[in-house]
Amino acid sequence: MATHDPTWSKVDHYATELFGLLDPELASVAARSQAADLPAIQVSECQGKFLELLVRLSGARRVLEIGTLGGFSTTFLARGVGQGGTVLSLELDERHASIAREGLIDIGLGARVDIVVGDAHESLRRMIDEGAEPFDLVFLDAEKSGYPRYLDAILKLSRPGTLLVADNVVRDGRVLDSASDDEHVRGVQEFNARVAEAPALDATLLQTVGVKGYDGLLIAIVGGIARRGTTAPANPEAAQ
Ligand code: SAH
Ligand code: DHB
Ligand code: MG
Repeated sequence: MATHDPTWSKVDHYATELFGLLDPELASVAARSQAADLPAIQVSECQGKFLELLVRLSGARRVLEIGTLGGFSTTFLARGVGQGGTVLSLELDERHASIAREGLIDIGLGARVDIVVGDAHESLRRMIDEGAEPFDLVFLDAEKSGYPRYLDAILKLSRPGTLLVADNVVRDGRVLDSASDDEHVRGVQEFNARVAEAPALDATLLQTVGVKGYDGLLIAIVGGIARRGTTAPANPEAAQ
């Protein structure tokens, strides 16, 4: 398994400083979580900025987040969608949700973020039943054992072109341990395998190192035109 090189954190701090990623608004959201003793498992500043850039790059206006915690990643997503865009964030823990809500309102992003409290599996089921509009981008970051089930729901709330980003898919390399009995590792393994098998998804996995140690992001596009091992066909329908 991986050893944690202290350089990883130093480089994260260097880049965060260099690009001014932890501005006063973000710092206030982070401070609120810290003061409330929430687990410090939010995305790093560099990862959060990457999410914001993905939202902007994809032009996403309607974003779904699964797992809010104190609203740190939510802040980046909400910045990415811009004015008129919306982020729906699902959170099981009422206390996490209210800390996130307060922090987002405090920095003026409350109007574009809706935090729904409850088991995200149930919230998603309700949205599917109600025929909710598909999302442009989904950031999956709740309990890892639930990832396979989340995938099914996400696909039902997607359209061709929807971007899926899932956090923590490497887990210090433990994703390779096929004998693992850790439910989080197993969840991620099954999730990755099901993404790989889903004909509608075109995916990659990016390993990450930094203040959060060694982990990775899975990035997939729904109904991607360029299919595995092929170049983009003249007729995108032919790829379905
Ligand atoms: N995305 C956040 C971190 C999320 S941590 C950030 O980067 O800033 C994972 C969160 O998922 C926790 O707040 C936890 O309470 C929540 N969670 C766990 N199980 C859940 C479930 N079944 N439904 C919704 N949220 C859940
Ligand atoms: C941990 C990290 C995460 O990014 C997360 O979403 C959940 C847990 C962790 O390091 O335990
Ligand atoms: Mg995470």
